[in-house]
Amino acid sequence: MNKHNTRSLLKARDSGSTLTWLTCYDYSLATALNNTELDMILVGDSGGMVVLGYVDTVPVTMNEMIILASSVRRGAPDKFIVGDMPKGSYEVSDEVAVLNAMRFVKESGCDAVKLEGGTIMAPRIKAIVGAGIPVIGHIGLTPQTSSSQGGYRVIGRTSSELEQLQMSVESLTEAGTFAILLEAVPPKIAKQISDTANIITFGIGAGKFTHGQLLILHDLLGLYPNFRPKFAKCYIPDVIEQFSLNLRNSADLTVFGKETRADGLHEIARLAVVTFIKEVKAGKFPDDAFSYKD
Ligand code: KIV
Repeated sequence: MNKHNTRSLLKARDSGSTLTWLTCYDYSLATALNNTELDMILVGDSGGMVVLGYVDTVPVTMNEMIILASSVRRGAPDKFIVGDMPKGSYEVSDEVAVLNAMRFVKESGCDAVKLEGGTIMAPRIKAIVGAGIPVIGHIGLTPQTSSSQGGYRVIGRTSSELEQLQMSVESLTEAGTFAILLEAVPPKIAKQISDTANIITFGIGAGKFTHGQLLILHDLLGLYPNFRPKFAKCYIPDVIEQFSLNLRNSADLTVFGKETRADGLHEIARLAVVTFIKEVKAGKFPDDAFSYKD
C-alpha cells in the first residue's frame, strides 16, 4: 500500500471508503501497523497515559512526543503519521505553535499535526498551515481541557454545545485544516457534520457516520489496565482462535523475510488491527454497543 498524503486521503474519502486510524507510540507495534492496510497513525498524547504512566495527558511535553513519534516513524515508514501537539505547545501564540509544529515534523518525521480546540484555535491552525504543515483539528471532548468541559463526557447534546461545534467546524475549515476529529459527539450530530463538511471527519466515540474511525491502540489490544471507554472495542478475543489455528497449520511462520516468527504478541496485535480495519471498512464497527446514545 502506498503511503497516503492529504490528497490521497481526500480521494479515499470521496470514493466512499471509511478511513482507518490508530494511535501508536513505539517502534515494535509500529512495525505491526506498517504491515497492514491501515490508512493513518496518530502518535497521541494519550501515550503519556498508556506508555509513560501519567494520570492524564496534561504533563506530556514536546520532547516526550518527539521521542515517541520518532520511534513510530522508524517502525512505520509507509504510513501517514500525525503528531499530537501536547498541552502548552500551541495555545500561547501563533509563533510558539508554528515552532513546535515545525519541531515535530523536522525532528520526528511526522506528516501532519493535530491540535485540540474549536474556533479559538483557528488562528493557530491558520499559522501552522501557512508554514506548510497539514493540520487536523480536534473538537467535541478535548482531553487536554476536559476539566473546563466538566470532565470526560459526551459533548453536543445541548443546543449551545451543538452551536459551538458547528461554528468550530466552520472556522477550522476556513483556517485550512484538512480534517477534523470529533471525540465523544452524539452519532446524529457527527453524521450531520460529516454530511455537510468539506473536509474529512474522523470520529472516536462519535458513531459510525464519520468519514474515518480512530481508536486508541492500547484499547483495541486491551493493554491499558486503568480505563476503557464505552466506544473502545478490544479485538483480542476475536483473533485469538484464528491465531492459534494459523500457528497449528503453518509450517513456516517466518514473517517479513526476517528471522522473526509470527508466533507471539506482535502477530496477535497485527491480526487484531487487520480485523479492526475489516470491520470499519464493512461498516460493522462501531455498532450500537460501541456508540453513545444520541
Ligand atoms: O491522544 C490521543 O490519542 C487523542 C485521542 C484521545 C483522540 O487525541
